[in-house]
Amino acid sequence: MRKDIQLDIDKAYGFISKESVKGYANASAAAVKALYDGTGKGSDFLGWVNLPTETNDALLSEIEATATILRERCEVVVVVGIGGSYLGAKAVIDALSNSFAWIEKEPNTPTIVYAGQNIGEDYMFELQALLKNKKFGIISISKSGTTTEPALAFRLLKTQLEEQQGKAAAKDLIVAITDKARGALRTLAVQEGYKTYVIEDNVGGRFSVLTPVGLLPIAVAGFDIRELVAGAKRMQDITGVEIAFEENIAAQYAAVRNSLYNSGKKIEILVNFNPKLHYVNEWWKQLYGESEGKEHKGIFPAAVDFTTDLHSMGQWIQEGERTIFETVVSVENSDHEVLVPTSEADLDGLNYLAGKRIDQVNKMAELGTMLAHVDGGVPNLKISIPQLNAYYLGQLLYFFEKACGISGYLLGVNPFDQPGVEAYKKNMFALLEKPGYEEETKKIKARL
Ligand code: PA5
Repeated sequence: MRKDIQLDIDKAYGFISKESVKGYANASAAAVKALYDGTGKGSDFLGWVNLPTETNDALLSEIEATATILRERCEVVVVVGIGGSYLGAKAVIDALSNSFAWIEKEPNTPTIVYAGQNIGEDYMFELQALLKNKKFGIISISKSGTTTEPALAFRLLKTQLEEQQGKAAAKDLIVAITDKARGALRTLAVQEGYKTYVIEDNVGGRFSVLTPVGLLPIAVAGFDIRELVAGAKRMQDITGVEIAFEENIAAQYAAVRNSLYNSGKKIEILVNFNPKLHYVNEWWKQLYGESEGKEHKGIFPAAVDFTTDLHSMGQWIQEGERTIFETVVSVENSDHEVLVPTSEADLDGLNYLAGKRIDQVNKMAELGTMLAHVDGGVPNLKISIPQLNAYYLGQLLYFFEKACGISGYLLGVNPFDQPGVEAYKKNMFALLEKPGYEEETKKIKARL
């Protein structure tokens, strides 16, 4: 039996009481139950809850087969998507990749790049230049099939691919992942005859990493999606409706966050001590920010990479306004061993570390930081991952999703909608004079 991810909340006590956390036990149990029986807010979007157990071998084999085709035919695969349509894939791929894979390519593996996650003109110019005369493929991901940023990027990349390969060959290098019936991407995919995967109606974008949205790019990058799903399945089992509050780490995390929030800790900082987790931070920020930040409520999710950011944000965290708490994602064992060498002259004064592993130094930095921040008035939670591999990433992603659903219900919001995202779109369309926005255009121009 493999170990599981652990949650340690001891360093939150002292800021909040054990009774306060226990006080959430009944509400947490009710929230978990609501996720399973669909009686809470946003219950049309609970398809992710049982997704790991419902992901069958046939789907995984099919995704692997498509991935093999793209791996054989492409030097570069562009994942086009924004928000939940790219962050999960990037989080897992970056966490599992060699840190320098962008310089020294893995053999027989396409380089994965991303587009449609911004509207940077120079970014797009440089991407087009990179892809010039390269064999590339596109995975175009948009649940709604209408989001402007990825639609724009896809139009440009599709045009380039067709120019480079010819229309007939280009069609076989494009995969679309979108709604089963609605949206422009579905229409385009049907018309052009692309290979497609469906994002089910009941799975929201930021909860879609364990659907083809995440699984296909991760498989194309050469990582084990079966292990990822197995890890998620294990976490589904150990955070289920029949698991007692004291044993359910997702319910515990949700309870502690809400208790801290209600005690005045309005900002949660997700911390890693492993640079490979940078995009797990980004994925987590979207998950919690979009799920909880509404009705003028919600913890602000921030994130840092330590020890890097100890030399920038560390000062603020140690001594700034005391409205923060930290959640440290700690990887127990690194994959490789690097020892500090002895130096005869010891001019750098580092001989006291000679013979030690770099990870031992990192772990002392981690422990020292946690203690310093607790002393400085920052409650600390710790999530321990035995190893940074696909299985434990599956556990971690599902853990955060489950806790997010519970936490949103404890806060009293609908964690599965994102009405606030529409405001900027409305203004942008009005400013761009999109057909159908004539009234808004008039109004917004009058404000300028
Ligand atoms: O969580 C969400 O639903 C959003 O962040 C979406 O993932 C994001 O807006 C992209 O939407 P779409 O996949 O429809 O292009």
